[in-house]
Amino acid sequence: MRVESEHDVRTRESQVETIVSALGISSGDVVSGVAHSGSFLAHPKGPELKTFDPSTGSLLARIRTAAPDEYAAASAAAQSAFYRWRMVPAPRRGDIVRELGQAFRNRKEALARLVSLENGKILSEARGEVQEVIDICDFAVGLSRQLYGNQMQSERPHHRLTEQWHPLGVLGIISAFNFPLAVPGWGWALALVCGDSIIWKPSSLTPLISIVAQRIFHDVTRGTEAEGVFSLAIGSGSVVGATLLADPGVPLIQATGSCALGERVSAAVGKRGGRSILELGGNNAVIILDDADLDLALRAVLFGAVGTAGQRCTSTRRLILQRGIAGRFLDRLVRSYATVRIGDPLDEATLMGPLVSAEAVAAFSEGVSTIKAQGGQLLYGGRVLRDRAGHFVQPTIVQSRPEMPICAEEIFAPILHTFTVDSLEQAIAINNSVPQGLSSSLITRSLRSAEVWLSAAGSDCGIANVNAGTSGAEIGAAFGGEKATGGGRQAGSDSWKAYMRRQTCTINYGAELPLAQGVTFDVRDADMP
Ligand code: UN1
Repeated sequence: MRVESEHDVRTRESQVETIVSALGISSGDVVSGVAHSGSFLAHPKGPELKTFDPSTGSLLARIRTAAPDEYAAASAAAQSAFYRWRMVPAPRRGDIVRELGQAFRNRKEALARLVSLENGKILSEARGEVQEVIDICDFAVGLSRQLYGNQMQSERPHHRLTEQWHPLGVLGIISAFNFPLAVPGWGWALALVCGDSIIWKPSSLTPLISIVAQRIFHDVTRGTEAEGVFSLAIGSGSVVGATLLADPGVPLIQATGSCALGERVSAAVGKRGGRSILELGGNNAVIILDDADLDLALRAVLFGAVGTAGQRCTSTRRLILQRGIAGRFLDRLVRSYATVRIGDPLDEATLMGPLVSAEAVAAFSEGVSTIKAQGGQLLYGGRVLRDRAGHFVQPTIVQSRPEMPICAEEIFAPILHTFTVDSLEQAIAINNSVPQGLSSSLITRSLRSAEVWLSAAGSDCGIANVNAGTSGAEIGAAFGGEKATGGGRQAGSDSWKAYMRRQTCTINYGAELPLAQGVTFDVRDADMP
């Protein structure tokens, strides 16, 4: 990586100005991070939050955050919007979501540039992230006419037994920096067609992105039945986050983050009888068998482990190689790592941008030291790139042993553990040996191995792929993981059911009152002769 010149710095500054001003902000501005009832508060009273460009460390904007009473007002506004919104027919709610999707489509490039700027992911991935919002909106529009309930056969004469789905209430979204638009989008797009309203507490590392999204929500919903359904409360986890978790007006919380966050969410929300949809840490493995297509395997591992600088929940963190190909494959992988272009994520030729913050770099360094201390060997990388500003590190490969305690932890950085095994059974055992259970992949040409992998005795993860990497799932299917990953499911398939309340209805259209299970209860009616 080259050392930046003064010219580079100036070019970058004007690039930043172009990106933020296209979205109506001027860099360094003080921006309100609290909104409800269709507009932003002019001067929120919570502590000021600064947001930085992770590629240079320079200040992007200063955000005014929510004080507790402002949070309360935002929550109350979402609540009253819910009472109106829940009575709007679902297909009409779908119309609004279609318009939201269209607004994201129209602004795709500008939003992608902002994501790339504030989060640090490369442009192609940032475009993919905006596309994910557009896709979930399309999905939700179709869903708005398909919120089907079941009809059961009643065991009683002249009875009808049915299940229907009703809007649930206010959805609380706690989102992470790594997918600042797409993952909250999975929540709000479904919640809206389901008739819920939203209060959103985004990551403090990517506040600008959420403010720009909120502006789009206001523009699209102004003057419609959806005006006021989106509340935004930017602030710290300890104030705004904790208040949201304890808020009895929020029956459902969708939270994305670490396993530690998940514990806090389930304890706080469970205590008040609320529900949560959790998508927490991953420790995702790719298994490559001796019969694998190694060209395909190489591409899958590179995107999974180096893509998004290892900051996806689905990033590949463990590589399990069968002995016959292990040496050859690792050699190729190390040589490919050396070709990965690291640098400005806004430059189309870059493959790996910075980590999100100085804390993330510290976690990377600490991870590498712990791996070494526990007996792991560095095969590639391991260094922080200090020859320029910003939070850049080398993508890193280590030879580890599955029993090293650090291998059970998610380090949110581009560090790939590699292990060698003799059999598929041994590989599956290692895949399943960690606390987390989000994503997993097997690369093989054998139908039998693939089916064993997908059987009940195979991968224990929420996502199990064959000849595809661990990251980059489509929105059409349910997304989420087992064990310490939290068990929640978001996005496609029937994930919408978590955003509604199910009601079982028994309707008697006869004149008798037969009881279920053949129970008799012949009480004498005192008024009858
Ligand atoms: C996440 O990292 O929290 O499957 C979500 C993927 C993306 C979503 C990742 N579609 O990698």
